[in-house]
Amino acid sequence: MTPSPSRQGPAAGPDAPSRHHIPVLLEAVLGALAPRDGAFYIDGTFGEGGLSEALLESAACRVFAIDRDPDAIAKGEALARRYPGRLELVKGRFGAMKELIAPLSPPPIAGVALDLGLSSAQLDTPERGFSFRFDAPLDMRMSGEGETAADFLASLSESELARILALYGEERYARRVARAIAAERKKHAILRTSELAALVRAAVPTRERSQDPATRSFQALRIAVNDELCELERGLEAAEELLMPGGRLVVLSFHSLEDRRVKSFLARRSASSPGRSRHLPAPKERRAPSFALLSRRAITPDAAEVARNPRARSARLRTAHRTEAPAWPACRDGKR
Ligand SMILES: C[S@@+](CC[C@H](N)C(=O)[O-])C[C@H]1O[C@@H](n2cnc3c(N)ncnc32)[C@H](O)[C@@H]1O
Repeated sequence: MTPSPSRQGPAAGPDAPSRHHIPVLLEAVLGALAPRDGAFYIDGTFGEGGLSEALLESAACRVFAIDRDPDAIAKGEALARRYPGRLELVKGRFGAMKELIAPLSPPPIAGVALDLGLSSAQLDTPERGFSFRFDAPLDMRMSGEGETAADFLASLSESELARILALYGEERYARRVARAIAAERKKHAILRTSELAALVRAAVPTRERSQDPATRSFQALRIAVNDELCELERGLEAAEELLMPGGRLVVLSFHSLEDRRVKSFLARRSASSPGRSRHLPAPKERRAPSFALLSRRAITPDAAEVARNPRARSARLRTAHRTEAPAWPACRDGKR
């Protein structure tokens, strides 16, 4: 891939992407990535390609774009044609970005961006089964592979269900919801979004003004089906290994479970000591920080952006740059 010296200008013509996902905090994301001519970036969550396109427009750089959703990759081909030799699309998980990128013999990586969660295309396509707004099969798989949400509901024990709902949905009434699911599935398999949503609404005794009672349970199931939090940990560690000194890490999260993980990963990696209590014995080995924070606090969208794009409302952006220090050893790899 050779960077094209000329910029393409805004999308137009037969290969112009028709997307309805509006990239969130795009200006701040680009500001943190600071794209440079000739540099190589990883967009770990290609989605509808808004961020990749903005990068390609900002500098004569190259982008390696990953998405686990085969539909996203297929639709992205039109964008790749508009930037010949500059946009490489790969179907896969960003947790495996190191292995995915290896066959390209990549140059040092100047930036990694993770824009977590679902794209508008996924949320608004009823048959993907992510949303309780439509009646559809309970699927929720980003990749279209592996166990569906309906399979999870059929196979998990009542206590595992309650744990997942409490942990990944922060659902106060997790045990009640799990009990209702366990009782219902004795009568018949729960296969549709509308059935699950109705069950949860009946099981949750309180109402929040701005949120459907099914929101938390749908979030929990989706996180479990896609192993999202372990993926995030793997993605952060892979970015740490791949980024060149000075390279930028930019992570946009949409709920507190994700943001907490990003925040604590960056806090650990940017502190000069492992951040242990002063009452504990001193650690045997001190590691040099592998990241330095670009901003101490998370960046959030302003009211105007939220008014334009309500899906931006819970976004939190964290940014850091890679130091010269070696990557810390990966600390975990597991499921659920
Ligand atoms: C919020 S969208 C990204 C939107 C994109 N920045 C844009 O401008 O269109 C998130 C995308 O990341 C993908 N995704 C989520 N987790 C992933 C993972 N672990 N590996 C690869 N892709 C993932 C989803 O399939 C989805 O298409």
